[in-house]
Amino acid sequence: MSNTDPELNKIYYPSKEVIKKATVKDYDSLYKKSIENREEFWATEAKRLDWFKKWDKVLDDSDKPFYKWFTGGQINIIYNALDRHQKNATRNKLAIIWEGEPGDVRTFSYHGLNREVVKFSNVLRAMGAKKGEVITIYMPQVPELVIAMLACAKIGAVHSVVYGGYSVEALAERIEDAKSRILITADGGFRRGKATKLKTIADEAMKRSATIEVCITVKRTGEECYMENDRDFWYHDLMGMPLANTNCCTEKTNAEDPLFILYTSGTTGKPKGLVHTHGGYSVYTATTHRYVFDIKAEDRWWCAADPGWITGHSYIVYAPLINGATIMMYEGAPNHPYPNRWWSIIEKYGINILYTSPTAIRGLMRFGSSWADRHDLSSLRLLGSVGEPINPEAWKWYYEVIGKSRCPIMDTWWQTETGGFMITPIPTMPLKPGSATKPFFGNEMAIVDDHGVEVKAGEEGNLVIKNPWPGMARTILGDPDRYVEKYWEKYAKQGWYLAGDSARKDEDGYYWIIGRIDDVIKVSGYRLGSAEIESALVSHPMVTEAAAVALPDDLRGNIIHCTVTLRNGATGSPALAEELKTHVEKEIGPIARPAFVEFTEALPKTRSGKIMRRVIKARILGQDIGDISGLEE
Ligand code: WT7
Repeated sequence: MSNTDPELNKIYYPSKEVIKKATVKDYDSLYKKSIENREEFWATEAKRLDWFKKWDKVLDDSDKPFYKWFTGGQINIIYNALDRHQKNATRNKLAIIWEGEPGDVRTFSYHGLNREVVKFSNVLRAMGAKKGEVITIYMPQVPELVIAMLACAKIGAVHSVVYGGYSVEALAERIEDAKSRILITADGGFRRGKATKLKTIADEAMKRSATIEVCITVKRTGEECYMENDRDFWYHDLMGMPLANTNCCTEKTNAEDPLFILYTSGTTGKPKGLVHTHGGYSVYTATTHRYVFDIKAEDRWWCAADPGWITGHSYIVYAPLINGATIMMYEGAPNHPYPNRWWSIIEKYGINILYTSPTAIRGLMRFGSSWADRHDLSSLRLLGSVGEPINPEAWKWYYEVIGKSRCPIMDTWWQTETGGFMITPIPTMPLKPGSATKPFFGNEMAIVDDHGVEVKAGEEGNLVIKNPWPGMARTILGDPDRYVEKYWEKYAKQGWYLAGDSARKDEDGYYWIIGRIDDVIKVSGYRLGSAEIESALVSHPMVTEAAAVALPDDLRGNIIHCTVTLRNGATGSPALAEELKTHVEKEIGPIARPAFVEFTEALPKTRSGKIMRRVIKARILGQDIGDISGLEE
């Protein structure tokens, strides 16, 4: 990729200081070893964890593409994230430092966090929670969200966290798909100085999907809540009862037992519940976190995502706890009350590693460097980026203004489906701004055309992963056929995983991600499906048909543009456009709010009736419409 500013095409080599501190100095030799004997590499890493029973087989590929890892082994991620740390000095270490948006602070040692998790496990058991059942969690970014996730895992229940920024329909749909009986929520959280109303949304969702029998609510904002007899319980009431005692043993789960489900958007309206397991996921997240961010005992680690996304599951909660790190969590908006909030947190708590998204960086960059300059950021050692391609301008600002040209940026490419980092540098690797660099250990990738032929260096193609890896999602909940069709069908002959991204590989073997090849839209790094937005629109009484497309945006990566047709020849108006935007926001959440809604008489369709979003997008952007031989009229 070439940039007009030659500064941005520079290669950034690691300093002597970085090399001196690095655990792995030579990527190439370890990479080679990991590829030559993949199973041995993963077995070595797996041995760093505590197992109730050792595995019989590292990789079981007898039922492709339903790969299994560490079969015959017994492990619980909580034993590794909490129990084992109670036996040594880590017990006294801070596990979580949490700061609320209003400025309140709570901290948990590994001992303290374990105590809360044990107590809440007993609450869940008392509520009849069973091993293997799916418990839905819908919460703001408060410590109880983490406690709830960990307690589910401890008793062998499967958590399904629904991001707290989602709204009624998104939540109802996920509860229903998982047939959840227990919901854990909160009255609300603080965002930009306002209290969100999570319980009100949860109430509405429980009306739409009738499976919930027990709803446990954490008090955070103190807002009035509707509490239904025999269904609704306050978290603090339950935690204060004798049933919430401190005896609870960690369930002996099998390596392949499900740990959690996380829904993500795909090409159809129905979100996919990806299933991750106790064994492979523990090994994969802990290993990637340790190598890529070279975690040290004294590190204070801050992944500024929300636990409601895979980034938060893997790298706020599980990997750092397994690795015994200290986790920073912050509840609210990065610019509240002022744009220096994040930088003040780094200074106040002496954060060593910051891992965030390009959108957040661009958003803070907008306010200028002076907000960062007034803080001492010298504790930082490494930086990280995830969620979408980082444009070189933002990379440079992050590197120079935040990292003071001392801290390498780990641009990590991965997905909800992959469980952990797939293409990523390690600290000693030369960096090219905008490239996620090279495959993580054990992984082989390629850029191929539609027939599976590798394209030339520098050419665009489909990104595929050629091998199984322990952190891979095992299936889609209740829909294994869709799992096969979505990820494995296109290159079934070769047995490759289709990532759904287009990318390039340069002469040095560095990967450059371009974007999605399907109808997935990345807005501010959040993943949304065109079909989800469209189905929210057509649920409005005035709308007959809708098409949502992504338009490029400097700040958010992409924004959503919707074209709709109206019922009974009604005509559109600016007021109706606003109403429809708000309707989408109410159904899915603020992240899905369209930037534009336009009205039309008819949408371009193929002869088989499929909406041609490509044609709509080309028209809006004033581009060549391309091949429209399939167009109906
Ligand atoms: C999609 C997956 C996994 C963490 C959060 C996103 C895009 C992710 C990068 C990166 C360029 C990236 C891809 C991918 N993406 N990281 N470093 N550079 N693009 O998880 O919501 O499942 O989205 O995010 O398009 O397919 P997700």
